[in-house]
Amino acid sequence: MQSTSEQLRTSRTSDESEPVVLVVGGSQGIGRSIGLAYARRGARVVAVARTASVLASLAEDAAAAGLTMGTLAADISEDGAPEQVVDAVVDTHGRLDNVVYAAATTRRKPSLTVPPSDFVDGLHVNATAAFLTAQAAARRMVDTGGGSIVTIGSLNGMRGMAGTAMYSAAKGALVSMARCLAVEWAPLGVRVNVIVPGFIETEAPGKAFRDPTIRAEMLARIPMGSFGTPDDIAEAAYFLGSPSARYVTGQTLVIDGGAAA
Ligand SMILES: NC(=O)c1ccc[n+]([C@@H]2O[C@H](COP(=O)([O-])OP(=O)(O)OC[C@H]3O[C@@H](n4cnc5c(N)ncnc54)[C@H](OP(=O)(O)O)[C@@H]3O)[C@@H](O)[C@H]2O)c1
Repeated sequence: MQSTSEQLRTSRTSDESEPVVLVVGGSQGIGRSIGLAYARRGARVVAVARTASVLASLAEDAAAAGLTMGTLAADISEDGAPEQVVDAVVDTHGRLDNVVYAAATTRRKPSLTVPPSDFVDGLHVNATAAFLTAQAAARRMVDTGGGSIVTIGSLNGMRGMAGTAMYSAAKGALVSMARCLAVEWAPLGVRVNVIVPGFIETEAPGKAFRDPTIRAEMLARIPMGSFGTPDDIAEAAYFLGSPSARYVTGQTLVIDGGAAA
């Protein structure tokens, strides 16, 4: 990451009494909807992702809707990036109240032949960097009385699915990590929860959603009979980060139309 003061594009016009929210993986899909859900309620949001052009288009869309969205281009898996990102947010806004960690890589491959580097690098983005981001954030949150951290898991962390050993291991790790951090940080006022989305159709659906046969198979596994939307996840993320959830920590909220019921 280069100079954070140059890269953090934001506006100081937001109400400085409103919470400050960092969404890692916030440029598109579920993370984008979560950031916008907070921004619509007046929060000061910073969305982080690697691709600057997608972040710029998010900021433009937000501005067109009368919202303010700060953006920061960074690869959260790089050495020191979690601390640098958290520092940049706190330097700009003076505090950090909420973190949502939505960044992930899937890398579906047969487990007999998956290269070791794929497994290690994937675990780093999906789980290790989530921990390092939570750690850097919690160190700052204790200065202002606490905060909320929400990570985005997956049904893969709860159920077996061929070719997803790395992704499943990482998503399962988010659940057990949240339980540990919740217990350890509850006395500090920092809550930690996980949202597990089911089949969520994003603006950029992958091949699985486009293939009619796979699409029909997935729909058949959802008792409610339809895919979820990013907004279904965003509303839950907003709730978990809000004072309404002040007594909720260490929990995993599955939002899947009944698929795992
Ligand atoms: N969609 C679903 O059906 C579904 C189901 C279960 C769980 N989930 C989980 O929900 C989360 C969001 O999913 P999605 O479908 O919205 O994914 P997505 O559209 O691929 O968005 C992923 C976001 O993370 C960012 N990102 C990825 N690697 C990064 C890195 N190293 N550093 C910084 N940012 C990074 C991406 O931007 P750049 O590529 O520009 O960095 C993007 O903003 C993921 O954790 C996923 O595992 C999704």
